This record gives sequence, structure tokens and C-alpha cells, in this order.
Amino acid sequence: MDTNVQKRRENKKSLRVKVISLGNAEVGKSCIIKRYCEKRFVPKYLATIGIDYGVTKVQVRDREIKVNIFDMAGHPFFYEVRNEFYKDSQGVILVYDVGLRESFDALDSWLTEMKQEMGSQANMENIIFVVCANKVDLTKRRVVDESEGKLWAESRGFHYFETSAQSGEGINEMFQSFFSSITDMCENGGKRPTPEVNVGFTKEQADTIRRIRNSKDSWDMLGVKPGATREEVNKAYRKLAVLLHPDKCVAPGSEDAFKAVVNARTSLLKNIN
Ligand code: GTP
Ligand code: MG
Repeated sequence: MDTNVQKRRENKKSLRVKVISLGNAEVGKSCIIKRYCEKRFVPKYLATIGIDYGVTKVQVRDREIKVNIFDMAGHPFFYEVRNEFYKDSQGVILVYDVGLRESFDALDSWLTEMKQEMGSQANMENIIFVVCANKVDLTKRRVVDESEGKLWAESRGFHYFETSAQSGEGINEMFQSFFSSITDMCENGGKRPTPEVNVGFTKEQADTIRRIRNSKDSWDMLGVKPGATREEVNKAYRKLAVLLHPDKCVAPGSEDAFKAVVNARTSLLKNIN
């Protein structure tokens, strides 16, 4: 057979992929999946017991993709049930509730659990991750803002979406981008094409912004000891200013971090002779 014809036929072959959902209990994992697959929202909380499994077919370019979705239970009680389902996943939907900081802080431990359970098979590089900042419809109770979530996601090479299973906001965009990235990866021999997400900022910048957000006072923010001299404060300030200046740093939240550093320096210098 003409090799081009053969290639074209192979391209049209359907793909089979496995994706899992991860995140604390009650953040909305099942509702996100339901909104996409069934176009509906259930306001009543029905905890997933261990794991829910479903299949859906999607079209990405000229390919039909058969997606096996393993929707995990977030409750620690179900750890023994879900731990064996991590293996062989091509995609992971990481979900947190923008109104619950602990669900955002827990994302790292979800990655740790996944790595642990995959054991020697673990190759997180060849898995597509999307982060859903969910329940954005509940604006009044929001405590984790967009820049913070985006920074966490993008500094790890993950895609970030603001979603609401209730209103449907961001859900289709998230799944389309997710499936398209998984297809790209499969067509690239199972390796995540680089750069998957072109972040345009360094890990040092991302870590510094996170550190500044979590600092307890102005000394801590500038990374100097309480009682530091004017010279030490200025030196620390200059280093941070170079790293975070909005003209040079495109990381989400850099502008606020830069302003905070300027204010911290001003208030410290006021009280140093
Ligand atoms: P587990 O299965 O226990 O791990 O929880 P889960 O993450 O699957 O949560 P689930 O999808 O069951 O949703 C939990 C609760 O949050 C339910 O009462 C949902 O109706 C509600 N919920 C989910 N997504 C949204 C959303 O985007 N907006 C609002 N307002 N409520 C949501
Ligand atoms: Mg669930």
C-alpha cells in the first residue's frame, strides 16, 4: 500500500486513553465530569464511593478518542480503593475549590500520593495535567485567586482553568484542551511534547512569589533578619526587584508581589536609622 495512504488510515485509527480525577472530597470532581458528559449539574452532594468509571467518545481533529474516565473519591477513607487506579493514566484532572484554601494546599499531596502509588512506573513527565479552579460561580466565598492558582499550575507545566460545574463556565474549554494535549502526546510516541506549556518565567520567580505571599511580616518578605541594617534591606530589595519587576517577570501575581516588596522596603526603612 502507498505509505501515505497507510499513514492517513493509521491517523484515523481511534485512540483509547485513560484519565483520572484527583482532589479533596467535595471539590466538584464528579460534577465537572457530569457537566461535560451529561450537560447537567446536581446540587446535592453524593460522595463518590471509592471510584466511578465511565467511558466517553470524543473527536480530536481526525481522530476518535475513547476516553476511560476514572473518577476518584477524594475522601481519605477510600485511599485503599483508589490507589490501584493511578497506573497507566495519560491524563489527570486536578481539582480544588476556590473557596477552600485547604483543597488548594492539598494539590501537592495528591501528586505525592499519585507518584507513590505508581512506584517505579512513575513518569509524571509523560502525563497531561490540568488544574481546575472550581466553583468560581461562588464569587463571595472565593479565597484562592486566579493568579495564585495559575502560578501553582503553570510553574509545574500544567494547564490551568477556572471552572464552574454549576454554570458550565470553562468546562468544555478545559476538556477540549485536555483531550487535544493527550492526543498530541499519543501522536508524539507517548511523550509530552515540549514545551507543553510555555510558561515564560522561571521556577525561581514562581517560588519567590509564593514565598512573598506567605511571608509573615516585612522582614520575612525581604528575606532579611529582623533588625537588619538599611544596607541589608536595600540589597535584598534590589535582588527581588530585579527578579520580579513587571517589565521582566510575566509570572501570574508578579505585579502584586513587586508592589508588596516595595511597600515592605518603605516601611522597614522608615524605622531604621
Ligand atoms: P468526592 O466524590 O467526595 O471526592 O467529591 P467530588 O469532588 O466528586 O465532589 P462533587 O462533584 O460530588 O461535588 C460536591 C458538592 O459541590 C456538590 O454538592 C456539588 O453540587 C457542589 N459543586 C460541585 N461543583 C460546583 C460548582 O462549580 N459550583 C457550585 N456552586 N457547587 C458545586
Ligand atoms: Mg465524586
